[in-house]
Amino acid sequence: MRKRLILCLSFLVFAGYSILSAENISSPDGKITLEFLLQNGSPFYKVLYEGKTIISESALGYKFRNLPALESGFTVSSSKKISYDNTWQQVWGERKLIREKYNGLYMEIEQKVSGKTLGISFRIFNDGVAFRYFYPESNGDSEILVSDELTEFRLGADHQCWWIPGDHDSYEYHYNTTKFSEIDAAPYKYYQSGDRNIPDLKAVNTPLTMKTVNGLYLLFHEAALIDYPDMTLKARSDYSLKAELVPWKDGVKVKAGGSFESPWRVVLISPALSGLFESNTILNLNDPNKLEDVSWIEPMKYAGVWWEMHIGKSSWSPVKVEGSWANDAPAHGATTENTKKYIDFASANNIKGILVEGWNTGWEYWGKDTAGYFDFVTPTASFDIEWLIDYAGKKGVELIGHHETGGQADNYEMRLENAMKYYNSLGIRAVKTGYAGSISPKGERHHGQYMVRHYRKVLETAAKYGIMVDAHEPIKDTGERRTFPNMMAREGMKGMEWNAWSDGNPPEHVTILPFTRGIAGPMDYTPGIFDLTFDKYKQKERVQSTLANQLALYVVLYSPLQMAADLVENYEGNPAFEFIRKVPVDWENSLLVAGEIGDYCVIARENSGKWYLGAVTDENKREIEIELNFLEQGAEYSMNYFADNEKSDYLIAPHEISIGKRKVTGGSKIIIPLGRGGGFAAEFVK
Ligand code: NOJ
Ligand code: CA
Repeated sequence: MRKRLILCLSFLVFAGYSILSAENISSPDGKITLEFLLQNGSPFYKVLYEGKTIISESALGYKFRNLPALESGFTVSSSKKISYDNTWQQVWGERKLIREKYNGLYMEIEQKVSGKTLGISFRIFNDGVAFRYFYPESNGDSEILVSDELTEFRLGADHQCWWIPGDHDSYEYHYNTTKFSEIDAAPYKYYQSGDRNIPDLKAVNTPLTMKTVNGLYLLFHEAALIDYPDMTLKARSDYSLKAELVPWKDGVKVKAGGSFESPWRVVLISPALSGLFESNTILNLNDPNKLEDVSWIEPMKYAGVWWEMHIGKSSWSPVKVEGSWANDAPAHGATTENTKKYIDFASANNIKGILVEGWNTGWEYWGKDTAGYFDFVTPTASFDIEWLIDYAGKKGVELIGHHETGGQADNYEMRLENAMKYYNSLGIRAVKTGYAGSISPKGERHHGQYMVRHYRKVLETAAKYGIMVDAHEPIKDTGERRTFPNMMAREGMKGMEWNAWSDGNPPEHVTILPFTRGIAGPMDYTPGIFDLTFDKYKQKERVQSTLANQLALYVVLYSPLQMAADLVENYEGNPAFEFIRKVPVDWENSLLVAGEIGDYCVIARENSGKWYLGAVTDENKREIEIELNFLEQGAEYSMNYFADNEKSDYLIAPHEISIGKRKVTGGSKIIIPLGRGGGFAAEFVK
């Protein structure tokens, strides 16, 4: 063996290779190791878990449209190691206290011929690795046009993957469960027309979750995506992933002047699924809170004039114009009277916010090419905004604003300051934004650098006016809420709305989201549909879940803004609403109790000494035995449950539910019964 090694080394020397294993750094618990190396002057990194290679030598670097490539010919000019350990407190979130502990390595490498420097920063946490690039001002380039980021992740085996296509405009897909070698968005080809865009059928978007052939869980994502495009990942036939950045209209990937810093490229690594679910690494890679006063930021439940438009009970627009996407239901939803009904209901049911879509002028042009049709400050004649705000205030409720842009980001930017100022003057402190439509300026994409800049500008302007943001058709969540805690929730997934006007989300969808999209950040899924078939309005469409499943989603899918999405008349008098009335939206702790991606999951969350449990299953009926280890050992609790019963079944009897109370002891076992497409929701009170 030794002889072979010597032979091998001498061959490398003979062949003229110079291998410099420049640096090597491990996680605080020593389990994960990252090696940085210059091989023949080209930078590579490699990741090991407990001594076994997870990612083999993978390339780093850049190509430019206007500058020489930073790919080879490097020598190390400096390296620096640090260790960091700190605990910080979230303004709101899945848990209060967050430990930020890692070992860091900062490398500067210099390209001899060009004299240019590239900085690469590595951070190794106990649950993953992250790295980012830094292109310094000292390189003396006033314009930098990146044509390719060379980052690779060489996996070397055909792992199990949960993925969505690398669409440049949308994350609204069901997850595919395939082997790495089977990643291919071909079934989605038809989306390549219109405002959907999947230029590479082998590219996926992140978070990309995997279970390796050795049973380790991996998740690929990014953190702190600021002034840079979204990274999709191309799955290549040699079991490697390659970064593919979403381009500008002219094909350039990143535009910068003087210097730039990339987002963190993150790989979470854990032997247990709970390790991915409970990870804080994405948040930890973002800068600390920049807002001095956060007293106006408040997680809340909300209801509103929303689902009724999606199922066709009412329309967004009071005016009918051929070709608009605002549907042609007979009634306009956003009237003073209708809104008052929602306010009264919210006030009586521990719901703080009321969202009203269609409150403003311009909806008749939605989906058309008409320039600048929303001004964001003009209510329609049927919506008495000032009276409603006053009325809501007296009842302890507040209006949530709505800025649908139709994708016209340029128009929104022009009017942004005014729009936020207007809401601020009315005392509105949360806004839902939307980009349903192709982006204007024409040719830019929802996930390109232009839009990343735009979303950031909206977030910062909102912060300036004391407004929380709930972004639909957003850029992916990469943990910005740590820096701007007014960045509350986002869509960026197939949400409830798809059940209203498409084949709908299959039951397994909500058993995958917590381990994919959900790890990026809060999801505004808008759960809580009680009339699961809504036959009065639509006969073909339905929500593919049981009623208990809808309740469980308040625990399973985390969001600080959680909607009670159904119509008031469907909630009134239904005892199951008690769970929505009680369930909190801000937590001291969140745990994965049990789960298999795509099959089922059981999640427990704590607020003020009470625990809430949510469980959901896919299209299979099952019983799950769990240990109540999250409760105080030996202590007695009352478990108030909302469960599937013998009959509950998402296709046959979705409304069947058993509501009750029983005594349980911390540490004991319970069996959770789940019907097909079923769920279980419970509150544990000492
Ligand atoms: C799409 C959003 O996801 C949905 O929630 C909203 O109702 C419509 N756009 C209209 O803004
Ligand atoms: Ca949407």
